[in-house]
Amino acid sequence: MSKTRGFELLRAAAPTVSIGIVTANLLSMGSELSLLAGTGAKLVHFDVMDGCFCPLMTVGPPFIKAIKTPLLKDVHLMIDEPLEKVAEDIAIGAHIVTIHVEAWSNPRRVLQKLGMLTNVNDAERGVVRGVALNPGTPLEALYPLLDELEYISLLAVNPGWGGQKYIPATTTRFARVKRMVAACGKDILVGIDGGITKANIAEISATGVDIIVAGSAVFDGNTPEANARFMLDTVAGIHSGR
Ligand code: DX5
Ligand code: ZN
Repeated sequence: MSKTRGFELLRAAAPTVSIGIVTANLLSMGSELSLLAGTGAKLVHFDVMDGCFCPLMTVGPPFIKAIKTPLLKDVHLMIDEPLEKVAEDIAIGAHIVTIHVEAWSNPRRVLQKLGMLTNVNDAERGVVRGVALNPGTPLEALYPLLDELEYISLLAVNPGWGGQKYIPATTTRFARVKRMVAACGKDILVGIDGGITKANIAEISATGVDIIVAGSAVFDGNTPEANARFMLDTVAGIHSGR
């Protein structure tokens, strides 16, 4: 699949923070997200959990569809057997759809199906196809998929909960993935999801992460706007040399 406009939008926004809502107050999500849009945030990260692939159940397509926001919807599917469900994610206006390499025996087929679907927001935009890996999954699982994805997301925590501690080995794994991507010669975004705090975002971002997913660090406390601004500024400052 050739590069899509959706990919170009993300490449232009990177490095950036995708704001995870799993620990946010879902009842005030609409107003929280309007405030966050004013901070310069570009992406909102929805963790879809089915109670099978990981223990919790969270929001699903109807909730995500109902959220009206200028932020691009970054949908992380922590669900088993996503093949039949990805079309629904396109229908809700997802900009990125990320599946787990561990979630099905044939992730390549899911990616191929995603590549054939049209973005409901903009027919020319396409969807950015992501593959996520759990912390214990060998990176070699990515090799057969590199030509069918635009985004790789490394989980820095076990899937299933917000507010966990960053697993330090993720930083080495990230460096290995960057080398793997450079060797394949394709422009692929690489992100880290989970365990990012105000205290570690500068160090992690400095390694060249394109998309950093941060949830509890933004929504814990009463100042999500200020938290988001701090994290976005940290990421942008490092990369612009300010
Ligand atoms: C882990 C999820 C993450 C997580 C992020 O299962 O994929 O997106 O909720 O939350 P924090 O930033 O609290 O680790
Ligand atoms: Zn996630």
